[in-house]
Amino acid sequence: MSSTAAVILAAGQGKRMKSALPKVLHRCAGAPLIAYVLEAVAAAGIDEVVIVIGTGAALVRETLGEGYRYALQEQQLGTGDAVARALPQLQASCRDLLVLCGDTPLLTAGSLTRLLSARRGGHDACNGAAGTFGGSTGPVAADACILTSIFDDPSGYGRIVRDGMGLVAAIVEDGDATPGQREIREINTGTYAFDRVALESALSHLRPDNRQGEYYLTDVIGLLRQDGRRVAAVTAPPAETAGINSRRELAAAERVFRQRECERLMDAGVTIIDPAVTYIDHGVEVGRDTVIYPFCFLEGHTRVGADCLVGPGTRLIDTSLGSGVTVQSSLLVESSAGDSCQIGPFAYLRPGTALAERVKVGDFVELKQTQVGPGSKIPHLSYMGDTAIGAGVNVGAGTITCNYDGVSKYRTSIGDGAFIGSNTNLVAPVSVGSGAVTGAGSTITRDVPEGALAVERGRQTVVADWRRRKSRKDDRQDRPGKIGKEP
Ligand code: UD1
Ligand code: CA
Repeated sequence: MSSTAAVILAAGQGKRMKSALPKVLHRCAGAPLIAYVLEAVAAAGIDEVVIVIGTGAALVRETLGEGYRYALQEQQLGTGDAVARALPQLQASCRDLLVLCGDTPLLTAGSLTRLLSARRGGHDACNGAAGTFGGSTGPVAADACILTSIFDDPSGYGRIVRDGMGLVAAIVEDGDATPGQREIREINTGTYAFDRVALESALSHLRPDNRQGEYYLTDVIGLLRQDGRRVAAVTAPPAETAGINSRRELAAAERVFRQRECERLMDAGVTIIDPAVTYIDHGVEVGRDTVIYPFCFLEGHTRVGADCLVGPGTRLIDTSLGSGVTVQSSLLVESSAGDSCQIGPFAYLRPGTALAERVKVGDFVELKQTQVGPGSKIPHLSYMGDTAIGAGVNVGAGTITCNYDGVSKYRTSIGDGAFIGSNTNLVAPVSVGSGAVTGAGSTITRDVPEGALAVERGRQTVVADWRRRKSRKDDRQDRPGKIGKEP
């Protein structure tokens, strides 16, 4: 049985990005550009994928993982050369070949499926008024089918040149086009379906005789036509087909992805007050009836439960929230919070923080590598690092753990139901037992047993009548004739 495979071109440097990072690894809505192409290919049901890598090959491979086959193109001699490198990697049974660029991330699986079916002779191909190939009537398989798009501003793209019959005759690159050809608004999206054998033979005839001195994959189209082969085309909406070549185009794609992600969540029952200023990464999950206020960033592997209130002004990175959680104006990184927690405003949860359910973390509280038990409260102005806090604990305002002695970090533990007085310094390693109490302002350096009270501070001195006595003394010093107190 013959099979379908996809070749994804990702070896180019992306000169126009002016970046040390390979272009296909630049991110949109949190995911590398090429990841979207791979996703569309997978969603179109194609599981044999060869990725052509070259610039930053090791990094691209490391980012995408070993679930794909890779072909190395050591020198970037052009898109035609890149495809030629991939062919030996394909299974012998592969007849149907999809070729895509790693820098067209907006393409959908639907367009890829239409492209494949059009090449096989399905009804979608539009290749001239009659919708026929080279004069034949009825559906006939083509040797190549190009995914094209109609752009208001086609500059930079290869143009689709059609003959007197309206059939695709060739693709001409922007830099090589005549002024007349530059007027053509039908562009090559860089996505094609090929008959593998026809492609192989055309590739062997490519010559780098163009302005860039490269082996253009696009020249295959003219070669196939000269050879009397059939070439078809299908059109996809411009919203899907933009190639990302510069930072400006990256930002434009980012806007599209952001809108798509917000729409995906809204369709699933999430309220987003203003999608234009809400930044949700690809793959973030949010439960029903959660409300996301403006200026929120939900990034990486973030999951938010149902009925939460997030924002305004909140950033969640690789963080999970249960249901009914409120987070306002806060930054949470690699942390988790159980159901009904209240976080912020202005809380900072650093990696390794885990809140059980009903925990309150209030304003100006920073937690790092800290686990907090159910119903505990850290309402204001605290720093807790490397700490295990039990259930029902109250941590008074201004409490901090002194977890670092300049060399090592140490742990603090606070048992269930303990009450930590305001402005306590917990000098780690130290533990406060269940139900124990620390006096406000204490610097606790030794363990506090269960149920005990620990107070560590100077006893208060009270000098009676101090104010009146002091002002009388000051008056005497101010009398004229006294040295040192002239006005
Ligand atoms: C290419 C097409 C152009 C089309 C446009 C669509 C050619 C000659 N031109 O132009 O007709 O309108 O895409 O976006 O094909 N690559 C390699 N090895 C190379 C060169 C490129 O793997 O030697 C990869 C790049 O990493 C990139 C893709 O091929 O993912 C396209 O290359 P790029 O330089 O962006 O081509 P364009 O000039 O955009
Ligand atoms: Ca491109």
